[in-house]
Amino acid sequence: MANRIPEEKVEEVRSAVNIADFVGQYVQLKKAGKNLFGLCPFHEERTPSFSVNEQKQIFHCFSCGRGGNVFSFVMELENLSFPEAIVKVADFGHIDLPATYTAQTQPAAPKDQQQADLLKLYADSAKMYQHILVNTELGEPALKYLHDRGLDDETIETFGIGYAPANQLLLDFFKEHQTDYQLLRQSGLFIENQAGDLRDRFVDRVLFPIKDASGRVIAFSGRILTKSPDEPKYLNSPETKLFNKRSVLFNFDLARGAVRQDKSVILFEGFMDVIAAYRAGIQNGVASMGTSLTDEQIYMLERITDTLYVCYDSDMPGQKATDRALKLLDGNSRLNLGVIQMPDGMDPDEYLRATDKEKFVQVFEDGKQTPTAFEMQYLKHDLNLQNTQDQLTYLEAVLQQLSKLSSSVEQDLYLNQLVSEFNLDKDDLKQQLRSLIGQQAVQRSHRGPSQSQSTSSMVPPPEPMPDEPPMAQGEGPTNNNGPLSRVEKAERLLLYRLLNDHDVWLRVMAIAGFHFVHDPYQQVLVFAEAYFKTHNQFELGSFTDFMTDSSLQHVVTSLEFMDVASESSKEEIADLVNVIMNQQPLVEQIQGKKAELTAAKQIGNHDLVQQLTLALIELYRQQQQVQQAGN
Ligand code: CTP
Ligand code: MN
Repeated sequence: MANRIPEEKVEEVRSAVNIADFVGQYVQLKKAGKNLFGLCPFHEERTPSFSVNEQKQIFHCFSCGRGGNVFSFVMELENLSFPEAIVKVADFGHIDLPATYTAQTQPAAPKDQQQADLLKLYADSAKMYQHILVNTELGEPALKYLHDRGLDDETIETFGIGYAPANQLLLDFFKEHQTDYQLLRQSGLFIENQAGDLRDRFVDRVLFPIKDASGRVIAFSGRILTKSPDEPKYLNSPETKLFNKRSVLFNFDLARGAVRQDKSVILFEGFMDVIAAYRAGIQNGVASMGTSLTDEQIYMLERITDTLYVCYDSDMPGQKATDRALKLLDGNSRLNLGVIQMPDGMDPDEYLRATDKEKFVQVFEDGKQTPTAFEMQYLKHDLNLQNTQDQLTYLEAVLQQLSKLSSSVEQDLYLNQLVSEFNLDKDDLKQQLRSLIGQQAVQRSHRGPSQSQSTSSMVPPPEPMPDEPPMAQGEGPTNNNGPLSRVEKAERLLLYRLLNDHDVWLRVMAIAGFHFVHDPYQQVLVFAEAYFKTHNQFELGSFTDFMTDSSLQHVVTSLEFMDVASESSKEEIADLVNVIMNQQPLVEQIQGKKAELTAAKQIGNHDLVQQLTLALIELYRQQQQVQQAGN
């Protein structure tokens, strides 16, 4: 390697690209439990055993045992060197690497020429529209409009905002460049009359580029500068080969990193809201394109997070839309849901302009509501709670809501609110709630289990998959076709603990003569020793790269796919060490000997009693030693 890519750069690339998105280019992944599953790209198979864990950013095939991080994936799949893999992944994530690293690699040839041409056309249009906005006199009114709305030049640049002037320029621009007429027709950037003549579609509008998940412009949405009753406020590109409104979310490309960091996504109603939040430092926001969420969009979001906050306008239509979105999401996704609402019926963009950044951000921090809390407030709108009839209607509707909650703690919380708000008897309310829950259970049993499980077919259900992947088969590096031995199971768990819990590492490494029975685990241990000399903390991604050996990468990755308790105990470690050092766990031995001792006493075999007592004392002594080693 002539130019070693520094570790910080490698780290930057690794953390900027979600392995699920990268792998998603090659494998269709579906969520099943906490992992994504698909057909393994490394071998032929009919049922998916290839899995991606987004949280840990690793993949693993339960069938062939391959595994690793995003770099190992592309190295193995495309037979690339490590630096080549980094360049490839960086390219996917739009991360600039100094030319010295990229010089050796060739850009990939576009698979589909027409698509590539369209992309180029959109990229050129976006550049041209932005140039008009930022650098020309023609763009001045639009630029002033944006500045008045609080957008600074940096924001305009970040979102690639442009302006299509009243005197149409785009057609002439492309004609001058002798762009193919058919391509122009297909682009959706022009309107065609019956004679086949083209004219610009976007006229006197501020243009927001719509980008795909990789940040490539695939459409525009144009906002009118001054309200007009005859024209829509926003005009979108028509659907094209590139642009399918159903599967696009505004700002998805930029938001992805922040979504991963914040572990949540915020769904806004409008582009300007996403941009307002972004300006205030809340960068995990997206918006659907003026429509309710589609199953494709839900799927996109589920792939990158498991929590979604709906932050629509807080006026009445916005609240209605929030209610609809919550119901839609509740039925069609596994996302945890919440609501964020601006004060005084404003949309986020309006509120940011009416207040300051701190107050605005505060709403996102303190103003999170559970869907139930939102509904309890929303249900009040059409009711007059001074009126007993309306009170009853309200209580009934709220109890309906509560009956669907799975957490009794949460139910209790809201019951208490009702008790104090309406001065009611808690036991009565509880009784009523219980009977509602009972009724629902009866209804469910009539409907049959299939319906109560998944309420809609909007989101493609994952392939039927066993709850636990077939771990026992073909996973162990030493034992490819059968269940793992007890020792090997212990080795795997202990190695996992050693890597992930440095206290365990220090304690076990202090045991003289400790080593694993099976080579691969011992080799990983040796690598880990070297790794900890230069790294303070275990980090799966960098350790995977550090080991370089792909078969050891497979081992370490497979460990991460084990279903293990998050916390370990000293007893657990002591037992594992024992099993590996070729002993039955002491506890079991002690129990066995105790049982034998009882039996020996019962039959009155004094010799045996004495022998067993001595053996027990010895076991207790060993146990004490191991415990000391465990401390
Ligand atoms: N929208 C649309 N067509 C319209 C109106 C709205 O496609 N005629 C979509 C746009 O994506 C817009 C979103 O619906 O961003 C929300 O609409 P609205 O709340 O009316 O727009 P705002 O985001 O508030 O826009 P602005 O602040 O610029 O008025
Ligand atoms: Mn607005």
